[in-house]
Amino acid sequence: MKVTMSLIKADVGGLAGHSRVHPQLKDDAKLILEAAKGEEKIIDYHVTSVGDDLQLIITHKNGENSSYVHELAWKAFLKATETAKKLKLYGAGQDLLKDSFSGNLKGMGPGVAEFEIEERRSEPVVAFMMDKTEPGAFNLPIFKMFADPFNTPGLVIDPNMHEGFEFEIWDVIDHKKLFLKTPEEVYDILALIGSKSRYIIKRVYPGGAKNSKKEPVAVVSTDILHEIAGKYVGKDDPAALVRAQAGLPAMGEILEAFTFPHLVSGWMRGSHNGPLMPVSVQDATPSRFDGPPRVIGLGFQLAEGKLVGPADLLADKAFDGARLLANQIADYIRRNGPFEPHRLPEQEMEYTTLPQVQKKLQSRMVDL
Ligand code: F6R
Ligand code: MG
Ligand code: MG
Repeated sequence: MKVTMSLIKADVGGLAGHSRVHPQLKDDAKLILEAAKGEEKIIDYHVTSVGDDLQLIITHKNGENSSYVHELAWKAFLKATETAKKLKLYGAGQDLLKDSFSGNLKGMGPGVAEFEIEERRSEPVVAFMMDKTEPGAFNLPIFKMFADPFNTPGLVIDPNMHEGFEFEIWDVIDHKKLFLKTPEEVYDILALIGSKSRYIIKRVYPGGAKNSKKEPVAVVSTDILHEIAGKYVGKDDPAALVRAQAGLPAMGEILEAFTFPHLVSGWMRGSHNGPLMPVSVQDATPSRFDGPPRVIGLGFQLAEGKLVGPADLLADKAFDGARLLANQIADYIRRNGPFEPHRLPEQEMEYTTLPQVQKKLQSRMVDL
C-alpha cells in the first residue's frame, strides 16, 4: 500500500519568548486534524512540538505536495495563531508569511518534510525535529547514518546495504541540485555538505542497482525562511523523516548519529554556533541563551498508514552522555561571548548592526 507521510511545522507563537509551544495551540491543531481524520481524508496524525515549533505529522494517500494536506496544515496553524494572538504569545503567527493559501506550502513559511512510500511488511520510521538551528544541521547525522561505517556497521556487514546510498544534495544559494553516490563519491559529498549553510542533504535513496523502484529512505525540510521572506523572520528550524531496518540502517544505527552533539548554527538570535543536544519531547524546551539547539526523535511503526507510537527515542538514558557533553560545550563556547566562532561569521548572522557601525565610523577610518 502506498502511503504519504507529511511532517509539517511552523512557529506560530512561543510561551515565554521562544521557549516552547502553549498546550492550547497543540489542542487547536488536533481539533482540525481530527475532523479530517473523521472524514477519512487523512489516515492518521500526531501533533507535537520542539521548542517554539508546532509539529504536525500526518499520514494520508494524497501523495507529496498535496494541496489538500498542505491547506489542512495551514488551517491548523491559522487556528493555533488565533489562540496565540489571544494569549499574546511571543511572535504569534511568525512563520505564516502569506495572507491566504495558494496551492501548496512552498514559500509560505512552514517547513515540510514528506515522502510517499510503499509501506513494507513492517515499516519503522522516525521523525526528527530540531529547534534553534537550520536544515544543514542534518547534514552530519544523515551522512553518518547512511555513509559512515564507523557509525553504521550495516554498510560493511549487511549485504543489502553494501552497495551504499545515493544522496540528493541541494545548493540553496544557487537553487540547484545533484545526486552523488556512496561509497564512490564520499569525498565529493563531504566537500559539499561540510558547507552546511549552502549544501543541504535533501533526500537519501537506496544505492544498489537492484533497487529499481527508488523511493526515498530519508527526507529533510529545506525551507529557508530568510530567503523566502527576503529578510530574517525566524530560524528555519528543520525536520526530517528516516526509514529504518531490513536493508536500511537499523534504528539504533540511525540514533547513534545523535550521540555526538555537533556544532550547528542558530541558537541565540540565529547568529551563534552551539552544540545540538538530543532530548526527550518533555525536554524540548530551549532556555539557556535561547537554547542550546535541540533535536527530538519520535519513532513510529506504520500499520496501513496508521501511526503506531510514538516512541520518544532520544529520551533514553543512553543519550545522557551526549547531553552532558552538549552542556559542557555550551559552557565553553558561551565564554567566547561576541567572538567568532561562537558568533557566526558576518554573512551568516541573522541579526547584525555591523553595517551601521561601519557607516558610523567610516569618517574616522584612515589609511594604514
Ligand atoms: C532564535 C530565536 C531567538 C530570538 C531572540 C531575540 O532562533 O528565535 O533567539 O532571535 O530571542 O528575539 P527578538 O528579536 O524577537 O527579541
Ligand atoms: Mg519563535
Ligand atoms: Mg523555533
